[in-house]
Amino acid sequence: MKWEYGGIYKAYDMTGVIALPGGSLVEVCDWTARLPEFMKQADTLFVDPPWNMGNARTFYTKAELPHPEFDFLEFSRRLFERIDQIAPRTLFIEMGKQYLGWYLQACSARYSHLTFYNSTYFHKQQNKCYVIHASQKRERYKSLEDLDEEDIIKWICANHGYECIGDLCMGRGLVGKHAYLNGRRFVGTELNKKRLAVLVNFILATQITSA
Ligand SMILES: C[S@@+](CC[C@H](N)C(=O)[O-])C[C@H]1O[C@@H](n2cnc3c(N)ncnc32)[C@H](O)[C@@H]1O
Repeated sequence: MKWEYGGIYKAYDMTGVIALPGGSLVEVCDWTARLPEFMKQADTLFVDPPWNMGNARTFYTKAELPHPEFDFLEFSRRLFERIDQIAPRTLFIEMGKQYLGWYLQACSARYSHLTFYNSTYFHKQQNKCYVIHASQKRERYKSLEDLDEEDIIKWICANHGYECIGDLCMGRGLVGKHAYLNGRRFVGTELNKKRLAVLVNFILATQITSA
């Protein structure tokens, strides 16, 4: 089955660095291979990576790319290598239960303060997930407990203190969308041009209609 996401990507040039209004930048890129330099502008990261290798493979299939040959721990190790290159002041990572312990450990090796929020995805109570919040100073947002991930992203984009929020796994772009709607700057990478085009279209179409 071909995943087209409405075929929106056909209307845009999705190659190279894509500059969006307000100085935001995105690029179709597999960070297991390389990190665009502009990602280092992020002082906060919100990342919702695949939660295991089966899940990661489905995203490579949807992007019509060959599956990586390494396992999920290597995939995660490379993710943290990129996070280290960016060195955000605050890191939010969304995770499932299976690798939550490994991710908490990886975060605690880098940050002095760590907490996590119980969350859900797709607004369904049975879809449990967790959002890790890692920072160098004590931060915990009570209002994020038990919110759906989309509402957590919305709240962070509106209320967390940041100059530029980054997302290494933009997908269809919730982080970019909510940063944009709050007049804030964001940077991001995404494996699949068809998924990233949904965000590009949302922003450029909003711009045109509000002009
Ligand atoms: C769970 S989804 C994130 C959904 C996102 N929060 C949204 O608003 O749509 C994970 C995303 O990570 C992307 N991804 C997976 N591996 C990646 C990699 N190595 N480099 C860049 N993006 C990757 C997938 O294509 C997928 O869109």
